[in-house]
Amino acid sequence: MSILVTGGAGYIGSHTCLELISAGYEIVVIDNLCNSKLESLKRVSELAKKDFKFYNGDLLDEKTVEKVFFENNIDAVIHFAGLKAVNESITIPLQYYHNNITGTLILCQIMQKYNVKNVIFSSSANVYGIPKNAPVTEESPLKPTNPYGRTKLIIEGILSDLYISDHNWSISLLRYFNPIGAHESGKIGEDPNTNPNNLMPYINQVAIGKREKVNVFGKDYNTHDGTGIRDYIHVVDLAKGHLKALERVLQTTGIDVFNLGTGVGYSVIDLIKSYENITSQKIPYIFTERRAGDIDRCYADVTKAKEILGWQATKNLSDMCYDSWNWQKNNHNGYTE
Ligand code: NAD
Ligand code: WQD
Repeated sequence: MSILVTGGAGYIGSHTCLELISAGYEIVVIDNLCNSKLESLKRVSELAKKDFKFYNGDLLDEKTVEKVFFENNIDAVIHFAGLKAVNESITIPLQYYHNNITGTLILCQIMQKYNVKNVIFSSSANVYGIPKNAPVTEESPLKPTNPYGRTKLIIEGILSDLYISDHNWSISLLRYFNPIGAHESGKIGEDPNTNPNNLMPYINQVAIGKREKVNVFGKDYNTHDGTGIRDYIHVVDLAKGHLKALERVLQTTGIDVFNLGTGVGYSVIDLIKSYENITSQKIPYIFTERRAGDIDRCYADVTKAKEILGWQATKNLSDMCYDSWNWQKNNHNGYTE
């Protein structure tokens, strides 16, 4: 069984590649390395003790995508490739729409041509925008508030239309909450190319002394300690969710959407304290203004993934903090020597 992983060199993609190989799947990866490094895939190979084919290519380049399908017998696609920074998407929306949406259109056209109709798509909790209630179910209103989230919602719509047009498609839309952590080996992890926007990579950089302190965005949210609550999920749990979705996609046809989170929310201060406890690293922080667009709380109702996919997260906040730190302390500069 051969699985094409788009964006496989990235943070979630690399962890999923490792789980796929460990479960016995053949994998083929395409990535243009615009937000990742080849080293991540070398390490996946080392950890898995197995080589796999890698195409250094862009989904916007139809010829390359076609070459991948021509040269390999692909059974299913796990589609991670995309740009993902919310703030950047507000600054350069057209690049986000073009890269994420056109890239997906080209991929789907070639899949159709080669009669490959099994796909898992990386969507995001961002599609819920500002949820009225938590936990957020898959039925909650979809109102993304930024171009990034809108690309995800548009792609969900494109894939739904594909299924409506041809019931041979089998599609799983996975809405991730807040992935953090790293593989327990400390060999692969999150390696942001630019200044980290997200909380955990920022904490990691404070822990290794690259930054002085964490700026905690807002202390007057309607939460137990005034800081924002999110559903952090260990990236290896998330990767395993893809294997469950893959089993389903390969066995059935249809389109389904699943929240992938733990179902439990933690505040910024909860996360910092848990990190300090488990790693014995001091994480200085100060309170600053709220970040525009942020919300009080967002965590998932994960009942559907549990009932239909038979998947649920197993790792707790301490595991996530420990593994994040383990990756960072072993790789001060990420994948760069
Ligand atoms: P990442 O940036 O680490 O990985 C994405 C990969 O896609 C990168 O390796 C990048 O080089 C590649 N890529 C981007 N555009 C491409 C193109 N046109 N052609 C080929 N390769 C391309 O991001 P990640 O955190 O691993 O996220 C993976 C997916 O999950 C993304 O679609 C992201 O939007 C989604 N997602 C991420 C999060 C998160 O917090 N990390 C949350 C929800 C959803
Ligand atoms: C978490 C909490 C911040 C940084 C984003 C995307 C979402 C998904 C996951 C892609 C919030 C606070 C953060 C800092 C802080 N990605 N914070 N200081 O915003 O929940 O979600 O990543 O799909 O779509 O929007 O994640 O890690 O940026 O923030 O206080 O330096 O940490 O205010 O409460 P977010 P985050």
